[in-house]
Amino acid sequence: MSCICISGFSEPNMASSSRIQSLGPRPGFSTLHRLRKKRKAQRLKDPLDALLLKTLAAQRDMEERFLQMEERRLQRDLEAEERRIQLEQRRFELERDHEFRMFNVFAQMLSILKQSNNGSFASGLPQGMDLSQAFSDSTGAGEGAQQEVRTTQLVRPVLDRTAYVFDFCNHSDFQSSPYLSVRGNIANIFRGSTEEGYRAYHADKYEEDKNPTGIINFGTSENKLCFDLMSKRLTQSDMNVIEPPLLQYPDWKGHMFLREEVARFLTYYCKAPAPLKAENVIILNGCGSLFSALATVLCDPGEAFLIATPFYGGITQSVFLYGNVKLVYAHLDSQVTGTCNRPFQLTVEKLKKALQDAQSEGVRVKALILLNPHNPLGDIYSLSELHDFLEFAKRHELHVIVDEIYMLSVFDDSATFHSVLEMDRFPDPQRTHVMWGITKDFAAAGIRFGTLYTLNQDVANAVASLCYFHGVCGPVQYKMAQLLRDRDWINQVYLRANHERLKAAHTFVTDELKTLGVPFLNRNAGFFVWIDFRKYLRRGTFEEEMLLWRRFLDNKVLLSCGKAFECNEPGWFRIIFSDKIHRLQLGMQRVREVLEEHEHGILNEGKDQPCESDSEGKADSADEVIFVSHHQEPASAGGSNLGDLIGLLQQQMRSSDWLQKNTVEQFAQEKPEVYDVFRKLVGKQ
Ligand SMILES: Cc1ncc(COP(=O)(O)O)c(C=O)c1O
Repeated sequence: MSCICISGFSEPNMASSSRIQSLGPRPGFSTLHRLRKKRKAQRLKDPLDALLLKTLAAQRDMEERFLQMEERRLQRDLEAEERRIQLEQRRFELERDHEFRMFNVFAQMLSILKQSNNGSFASGLPQGMDLSQAFSDSTGAGEGAQQEVRTTQLVRPVLDRTAYVFDFCNHSDFQSSPYLSVRGNIANIFRGSTEEGYRAYHADKYEEDKNPTGIINFGTSENKLCFDLMSKRLTQSDMNVIEPPLLQYPDWKGHMFLREEVARFLTYYCKAPAPLKAENVIILNGCGSLFSALATVLCDPGEAFLIATPFYGGITQSVFLYGNVKLVYAHLDSQVTGTCNRPFQLTVEKLKKALQDAQSEGVRVKALILLNPHNPLGDIYSLSELHDFLEFAKRHELHVIVDEIYMLSVFDDSATFHSVLEMDRFPDPQRTHVMWGITKDFAAAGIRFGTLYTLNQDVANAVASLCYFHGVCGPVQYKMAQLLRDRDWINQVYLRANHERLKAAHTFVTDELKTLGVPFLNRNAGFFVWIDFRKYLRRGTFEEEMLLWRRFLDNKVLLSCGKAFECNEPGWFRIIFSDKIHRLQLGMQRVREVLEEHEHGILNEGKDQPCESDSEGKADSADEVIFVSHHQEPASAGGSNLGDLIGLLQQQMRSSDWLQKNTVEQFAQEKPEVYDVFRKLVGKQ
């Protein structure tokens, strides 16, 4: 552009000088001199020439100014480019440092595993975990070069998520399969946090008549209290309709009749100030698929979502397996400090800190996930809290995914649920996405059905493309529309009975816990109680937590331990109470047996003190929250078992001081052998 302007300015200059030069022939010198003087005087007097000169001067001025501006702009661009390159380099260095730290801890874990004589831990780590094989593959001691690269790539994403994968992967088959891609291998070894217990339960289910010694499932978040109501309603004659469109390919976002019904349903139950629009509704086969689809369309591989811990652990799997999206944690703890007035309270400060920590490590965070009502805490956010979280997200240009899958499972009138859809206006309408499904509120996990409400048509269309893989079949869409339309049945029959039953079951389990003197969060939403079993741990480690979890399973009752929710404090467990009374009775009896046996064991051993939780184990004045104020110290840095190492790793990753002190250079000096292997691995990428 500058070239064009400059030549544009220059041409008239040249033309005018040639015009001046061609004013006449060249006579003798004195005549010439006179003539020149005369002509000059004439020329100066000529108004056209004066104007021409002025114009030329002005043009030159402008040209110079323009060139100066251009130079300044180029200079600025150059500086910006330099800054960008510096930032990229810094980010690259940070990533490399980060990978090295992970690698170092990984190497320590391996050496502990190798030391263990039967390849497994008393900690409850899965038997025969053969990571050394994978490790030697990746360092070139194993198969051919191609395989090395594959395994190295396979190990890397696993390293990023060390604590989670190490606790819950079934490592016994941790050998890359030649039949699978790298992604396939990751999916192959990836086991959700609940997988082991879930499998055990399905292999040995409790059945009152056929298998009375089978496992009672207090681990899977299902409502087993309303089968009678739901089966009756879903088999009424109005449900059995098959029109031709139901057997044809649908609109990928879902049939319009259903999206209209969902829009009306959400408008009513979420108390939206204006009717919600069907065009903003998308139907998928469950909220798990929705997390997966949103991760894929909002993030590039390696980018992250921000979420508070503890949280429903299935989200890790949903966002990671297809989208390769990570989760960045804002850890909440049981201690009530500062502006908090309840244990595990989420605040904007905690979100901000987690976001900043992630960004300083070079992680790009694209969205905030909010669970409301919360699984596993049972918390319900107030409108002002919701507003603060949404404003926070807006300030940082984060999308917000609000999961309201338990919105109608608030079983006590003393608690009020507020949907974000109740707001007059979202702070950032194009980045706010709300999900709901029938799994929980209609006690129908087996019917895979979830909905997304988003004003962002780009997001809606992108998710719709993925609906081809995650669609709900036509006849089920019809049934869902019939169900959601039946407001009388929902209000007068279903919700009344469901809430009464949930409340009775909750009361039964919490009364048992009170009798046992076990602290817990006393909430009125969801199907779970979040329980503090810390006093039953000999030491405050996740290894001990896993031991206790395994003891429950051995005694044929499946619970979920805090680690499955990425809880930061070992010793917290979740019990699902939404089950029939006879199973609750038997399950709680089995829980009690384990706790009593554990307590005796700890007292008899006498050598190790149980991990005291300094909670009083009693209800506060409002009898709403069993107050817990104990704060767990981080695992000691000198710990030499896997649980301690994982705890240490988590502590360390959060401590910016640690990040600054533990540089690759320092490691290279202190542990040259580990550094050497790391260098080899990096060189192969
Ligand atoms: C908070 C939360 N979101 C989503 C899901 C998954 O729901 P769906 O069955 O619709 O996939 C669960 C299941 O436990 C959950 O607890």
